[in-house]
Order: sequence, then structure tokens, then C-alpha cells
Amino acid sequence: MTLVAVLFYTEQMDTLLLSDDRAAEAGALLKAGQLVVFPTETVYGLGADALNEDACKQIFEAKGRPQDNPLIVHIHDRVQLDLLTVSLPPGADALMQEFWPGPLTLVLPKSSSVGSVVTAGLDTVGIRMPHHPVAREVLRCAGTPVAAPSANRSGKPSPTTYAMACSAMTGRVAAIVDGGDCENGLESTVLGWAQGQIHVSDSCHENPGTGWVILRPGSVTREDLSRVLGPLLLPPVHPANESLTVRSPGTRHPHYRPRSPVALFYHYGDLAEEKLLLYRDWALIGISDSRDPAESAVNPSDRPPEQWSGPVRLYAGWKELAKRLYSDFYEMDNLGVPGILVQIPKEDGGIGEALRNRAGKAAAGRFI
Ligand code: TXA
Ligand code: MG
Repeated sequence: MTLVAVLFYTEQMDTLLLSDDRAAEAGALLKAGQLVVFPTETVYGLGADALNEDACKQIFEAKGRPQDNPLIVHIHDRVQLDLLTVSLPPGADALMQEFWPGPLTLVLPKSSSVGSVVTAGLDTVGIRMPHHPVAREVLRCAGTPVAAPSANRSGKPSPTTYAMACSAMTGRVAAIVDGGDCENGLESTVLGWAQGQIHVSDSCHENPGTGWVILRPGSVTREDLSRVLGPLLLPPVHPANESLTVRSPGTRHPHYRPRSPVALFYHYGDLAEEKLLLYRDWALIGISDSRDPAESAVNPSDRPPEQWSGPVRLYAGWKELAKRLYSDFYEMDNLGVPGILVQIPKEDGGIGEALRNRAGKAAAGRFI
């Protein structure tokens, strides 16, 4: 073997491709310390037994993930929660009652059962109870909490279809379970309890210094959470707020980036004249008009320019766009487009917050 071949050689393993009725095999592999990709309602996860440090270490290798980015632990029931945590902050019970099983991750004080590989050395652990029936069955059969980041190679968009999961992880894991397309298409909302760590000067928080903070917006929205907890903070995306950046290390790294460059826009009117000449052969992902004002504030007459020559994907509303965003990225990369324009909502609220966060990171903040 030449030196170059040695340097670029990575060991490939046989990957079992499992239909969704083979959760028992997936569970047994997890219990035996193997890596298994499985579907959830948000995105596909790359799972390992959360109580087996050697198995969890393999996740970082399969993903090429920085060691300082902690993993979310997926549980089947509240008995597993008690194993992983020492105490619950105020409001945690109410949140679980309302949103579990579902796409909400809670960052909670960890017990000694959770190793430092999972938490990247933090004294907290992110926990979520998914509601996807295949995920639940895999977790039940595994009989152990399962640490699972999104099943993409680090920095890439999360897999939201079986084809994407296979493309990212075949040869790197013991098995991949086919759950079809993920219902939400964006990762779970991550909510953390910050004790004496919130230093946001323009805080509208009722109790500055302590409280729940949205570390990553998702389909459980700020409005949903506020119904249970009262007003909530989202840490600014820029790294000025050091304390919160440290609290969720994953937010520091580049994320959700397809191969093609991504840029953002608000309204189709922004694509006129010289912008049209510059970008017309790029892919365009946006929404058509929607009758539901909560889903779309776009003027019905506001449409993509007729002279657009790149592929166009239009959705009935922001939720549908969010569901398809990553699989469209994947498709557009395969088509080899020169770039991808993504429409995002200008208005606050709803799923728009998560969409702006993910598309914003994919574009590294770049607007046309
Ligand atoms: O929907 C999801 O959450 C998917 C599916 C598979 O469940 N998982 C997922 O995991 O998106 P991952 O690893 O791609 O993103 C986890 C995020 C990262 O930003 C990480 O930094 C944060 O959660 N996180 C995990 N544990 C944490 C902790 N103890 N403190 C602060 N942030 C934490
Ligand atoms: Mg991820």
C-alpha cells in the first residue's frame, strides 16, 4: 500500500439494512455495543448504548464529530430517566408531561451512570423521549438508554430520509433501520436549565441568572414552551454570550452545510434584476402562498421569477419547507447545482425560529 493509500484508508464494516419491523435485531445490536442508525420523528439518529463508553466513543469516529460536542440520550420510559439524572429543575416535570414523548430534549443534571464521553465532560446530560414508533420499539428492544446524535457526517445536514441515512453511514455502522421520511425534518428543540449562568443584558426574563433557556430552537416552539414555563430566552447566535455558548458546545461548530453554497432571502421580490442574473441557475427552495397566516406571511402574488432556470422546490408553508430542507439539500448536491437559495420567514415565531437557525447556519449567515 502506498503512503497515500494508508493515510486515506478507513475501515469499512458490513452494514445490515433492516426494514422497520426488525427493531428487535437493531435493539440486540445496540445492547451488544454496536452502532445502529434508526429513524426518529425529527431526523435519523446514530445510536449506541449510552451506558457503554466504548460504544459511545465509536459514534465520534463514525461521524467525525469533535469530542467536545455532547450527545443526546434517548430513553423509552421514565425509569430510564431516573437512572440518568440526579434531580429535576422546577418545571421539568410539567415539560415532560406536556411534550414527551416528542421532539424536546431537556438538558438536566446528570447522574454518575452517565459517562463523560456522552456529556463531553459537562455535569449535565441532554435527554429526549422520541415518539416515532420505530424509535420507541428499537429503544424498548435495546433495554438501555441510547446516545444518538443526528446520523450525518459532522458538519453536514442531518439525514431525514432512509437514502440520506444510508449514504452517510453505510460501512460505518452495524445496521440502519428504514423508517422512511422523518415527519419534522429538523432536529429537536434543546432546552437547558441555566443556574446563575444567564448574562443577557436586554433580558426580558423574569428571573435573570436562572431559568430555562432554548439552546436550539425546534418544532416544539417558544410559544409552546412558554405556555408551560412563561417567557423564555434564546441565546444570541453570535458567540458574544460566552456562558451560553459553553453550555451547548455543539452550537460552536459549523453545521447543516451541503456541498453547494447556500444563501438566504426573505421575499421573491428580492430576486429581481441583477440578483436574477446572478442566481437564476441556482436551486431555489421556498414557499408558495399559504392561506394560513401563521404558516406564511407571503403575499400570494409574490412568486419566484418566471425566468428562473435552476430547480425550484415550493412548499405550502414553513412547516413543509422545514420538513424537506435537508433532503432538498441532499438532492441538490446530487444534481450538482452551483448553489442553493433558501427562503426564510422574516417574522418571529412558530417553526420559523428553527428554520432561520438551521438555514442560517447552512448559509453561514449569508443573504443574497
Ligand atoms: O432531534 C434530535 O435531537 C436528533 C435525534 C437523533 O434525536 N439528535 C440530534 O443530536 O440532533 P445532535 O448531537 O446532532 O445535536 C445535539 C445538540 C448539540 O447541539 C449538543 O451540543 C446539544 O444538543 N447538547 C447535548 N447534550 C448537551 C448538554 N449536556 N448541554 C448542552 N447542550 C447539549
Ligand atoms: Mg447534529
